[in-house]
Amino acid sequence: MFTALPKVDIDRIMAELDRLASKSAAPPPAVTRVLYTDQDLEARAYLKELFADAGLSIREDAIGNTFARWDGLEPELAPVGTGSHTDAIPHSGRYDGTVGVLGGLEAIRALRRTGFQPFRPIELVMFTSEEPTRFGIGCLGSRAISGSMPPESLVALRDADGRPFDAVRRAAGFQGELASVKLPARYFAAFVELHIEQGPLLERAGVPIGVVTAIAAPAALCVTLTGEGGHAGAVLMLDRKDALCAAAETVLAVETTARSSGSTDTVATTGVCRVHPGAINSIADRVTLEIDVRDIELARRDRVLAAIHAAIEAIAAKRQVEAVVHCLTSDPPACTAAIVVEAIECTCGKLGLKSLRMKSRAYHDSLFMARIAPTGMLFIPCRGGISHRPDEYSEPEAIARGVEVLTFALAKLSYTDDRVFDGAAHAR
Ligand code: GLV
Ligand code: MN
Ligand code: MN
Repeated sequence: MFTALPKVDIDRIMAELDRLASKSAAPPPAVTRVLYTDQDLEARAYLKELFADAGLSIREDAIGNTFARWDGLEPELAPVGTGSHTDAIPHSGRYDGTVGVLGGLEAIRALRRTGFQPFRPIELVMFTSEEPTRFGIGCLGSRAISGSMPPESLVALRDADGRPFDAVRRAAGFQGELASVKLPARYFAAFVELHIEQGPLLERAGVPIGVVTAIAAPAALCVTLTGEGGHAGAVLMLDRKDALCAAAETVLAVETTARSSGSTDTVATTGVCRVHPGAINSIADRVTLEIDVRDIELARRDRVLAAIHAAIEAIAAKRQVEAVVHCLTSDPPACTAAIVVEAIECTCGKLGLKSLRMKSRAYHDSLFMARIAPTGMLFIPCRGGISHRPDEYSEPEAIARGVEVLTFALAKLSYTDDRVFDGAAHAR
């Protein structure tokens, strides 16, 4: 099947990661790359150049999901997909998502260099806005692709400055019909995403590859607390309806509720707090909080959500402020597909690499791809399990191993055939 065994060019991936990291609104080592900003558009242009150089045909949909395709021997067959995202939350690192896009590209290049021909096409996807930064909802691109976010829900989105999603995406150059973004179920024969673990388990266990069996269920709330503003000197303490004090109690209630769920799998975070008018000598009249709640178990997560709702009502009543709670997302968990799990584990076995089955506590585009395709994920270790921080780091060797496993897994899935492994063990 191979005339020569595929070899990953890790120096090239590292150089490309470096170049991509420079497209950032924050100074290095931090990376900030928010949907449809100049940095996002520059990163997209750079990646499309790389995809074209690799001989792939490129299609962009109406919201900027980008598909780079290698037609196989049977171009009419459903492709095997791989990919991830390249947007980055404020002040984060350079490996989250990008390793799956550049790693997927290098896997394809490595296969092409050997003269390998996939049976099914292989399609690399760069998803639009996996991160919720701009419009408050994560996995926008894969939600829309999977039909989990219809055009009317996309159109209803506004960013923190009140700008409508539709206007912003058009200004960024994406003009097509939103209804055309959804792909048919079974568009992909299989989908596999490479990602950094974003947790410490692989590093602690000294295992190079994680094989994801389930992806945790995230939910996001937006809470607006409205009290009464006023002069910081003139309004006496007993007369106040301070929205920020109510918000402070809410933040603590979120933490206490998650801590007392009975499981360490429950996590809850208040990551956004917007204070109006935000002046030192003015009592806050309005505060907006964004709260992220997750669990591996859906029922427990929903119990925690209900308890947070109840706590907010009690705080609002006690402090005489108005509370409006808006549920931004509430997604069920996903299980990965046996065919992809087996392809990854079989590859690890053939390459002599240890692997560990694990759950993903972070969410990923694969959460939504699992709704329309047999989907799996492989993780590589990252230093100290650190992610969403500028000091996020994965060693080149760890990335190389992940890309190597992805390379063989894509080849295998494109044939659903074990012959791709002939001689693979001798390649190392
Ligand atoms: C993805 O970035 C997540 O928040 O899990
Ligand atoms: Mn992330
Ligand atoms: Mn990610």
